[in-house]
Amino acid sequence: MTKTSKIPSNLTPLLDSLPQEHREKILAGWSAPRNIVSFRVNHLNSSREEVVKALGEASLLSSAWDGFEDAFYMAKEEHEYTLRGLEIYKQGKIYVQSLTSMIPALCLGLHPGQKILDMTAAPGSKTTQMASMLAWKCEITALEKFGIRHDKLVHTIKTQGAEKCVKVIKMDATELVQFFSQNAQKNQGRKMFDRILLDAPCSSDGRINLGDETTYKWYSPEKSASKALLQYELLEQARKMLKDDGKLVYSTCAVNRTENEEVIQKFLTKHPEYHLLPCPITPDYTLEDNMNRWYPSETMEGFFVVVLEKK
Ligand SMILES: C[S@@+](CC[C@H](N)C(=O)[O-])C[C@H]1O[C@@H](n2cnc3c(N)ncnc32)[C@H](O)[C@@H]1O
Repeated sequence: MTKTSKIPSNLTPLLDSLPQEHREKILAGWSAPRNIVSFRVNHLNSSREEVVKALGEASLLSSAWDGFEDAFYMAKEEHEYTLRGLEIYKQGKIYVQSLTSMIPALCLGLHPGQKILDMTAAPGSKTTQMASMLAWKCEITALEKFGIRHDKLVHTIKTQGAEKCVKVIKMDATELVQFFSQNAQKNQGRKMFDRILLDAPCSSDGRINLGDETTYKWYSPEKSASKALLQYELLEQARKMLKDDGKLVYSTCAVNRTENEEVIQKFLTKHPEYHLLPCPITPDYTLEDNMNRWYPSETMEGFFVVVLEKK
């Protein structure tokens, strides 16, 4: 019996499409769900020193993550409840976010003064991470299509103190170019942004926990294929809104090739003027050059990140 035959049948095509070595690591991650809670300092409401002091006073043993100086993690079962009871949590001085979810913003090459588009932004983890990293010195436009998700995005931005540098628009990002063209001033309907983050809607198979059926029962290769069509459409919209010297980060919390490598390969074939840049955080592996993946594991969600730039 192969390993894949022991797992739910809707997941076998996905696993079978990956090399054996990666399949085993992904299966191991799906079988051993995350046992840490991670968070980052929010510089808009606090400082690293204040957060470290508050953690010490609460006797919470945390480790700093070497991928990002603002990020910490601690044992989930022992400490999450206490962490979420602290004033630094309630007052938005920290933001609970998975470590891999912090990586896309770190790949954007952010600098003060940039115009940034966060295309599919709710609940706002990465929008507020970027605002914190740039200490408000940027103009972020954050889009979200769905009502409840949009409200959650607005709430996150408010509690994290990011309102003064973020404009939220409730809209379908597949209509991005049309929207900005209609609302354009001085022909600025396209190529408006220095940085674009497309943290795309995906099947979330990087977050599967085999001990919890609700995390995988809706997954199917067909749904994945339909997400891939949407993801590609969103990428095409992003391309038209990016300045010629801009950077575009595409990320998903998926591990299947359909929504990751295949979407990017299709884009690069259609637009050979683009290429992929290395990611500043060392990935677990790349199946193709600069297509960066993180395995699901006890500390990380499965994640895929690429950085696109015009040659
Ligand atoms: C992966 S989540 C984004 C997570 C977010 N970047 C964060 O870090 O908090 C994808 C989001 O895209 C939204 N979405 C899906 N289709 C969309 C569309 N066509 N236009 C805009 N947003 C969309 C979903 O509702 C969801 O909130």
